[in-house]
Amino acid sequence: MKKQQFNFTYELYDAVDDLDPKDAILLNAARAVTKDAYAPYSHFRVGAAAILENGAFVSGTNQENASFPAGICAERVLMSAASSLYPGVPIDTMAISYDNENGPSNTPISPCGICRQSLQEYQQRTGSPIRLILSGQQGKVYIIPESQALLPLAFTGDELQ
Ligand code: THU
Repeated sequence: MKKQQFNFTYELYDAVDDLDPKDAILLNAARAVTKDAYAPYSHFRVGAAAILENGAFVSGTNQENASFPAGICAERVLMSAASSLYPGVPIDTMAISYDNENGPSNTPISPCGICRQSLQEYQQRTGSPIRLILSGQQGKVYIIPESQALLPLAFTGDELQ
């Protein structure tokens, strides 16, 4: 038996003002786009904003449904838009933020498990890691250099060969 270990390094910033200006612009865009979320059930508005490797900007927001499972997270709305508008173009960096109408929005968001799975497949199919900037409307910011780090031992299409 051999014990193995996963660990990953991420960056922690106290506030958006401490970021590189390009990252700050992207995070501010993710914060702003939360206003376009359709979240009448959870009242938890999520916004995602990304720069692709060709320089294009794409955003997404969560879109809920009275039939709850039909709702879709902001990150997957963004990825669907990106791969429809710019097929095959890698996502360089995605910023994610939220506005919780029922409480504070000052700690970094953590993408849900389904979105982690979708991020993994997106980076695999484009052959390029996705950098994540995670925050709320204010406060601390995490930068995860590769989204893959959030889903160790991921199930992938390779298993289906
Ligand atoms: N949500 C996202 O859009 N992204 C996440 O990373 C976490 C959760 C949405 C789904 C649902 O519309 C609402 O937030 C509450 O879970």
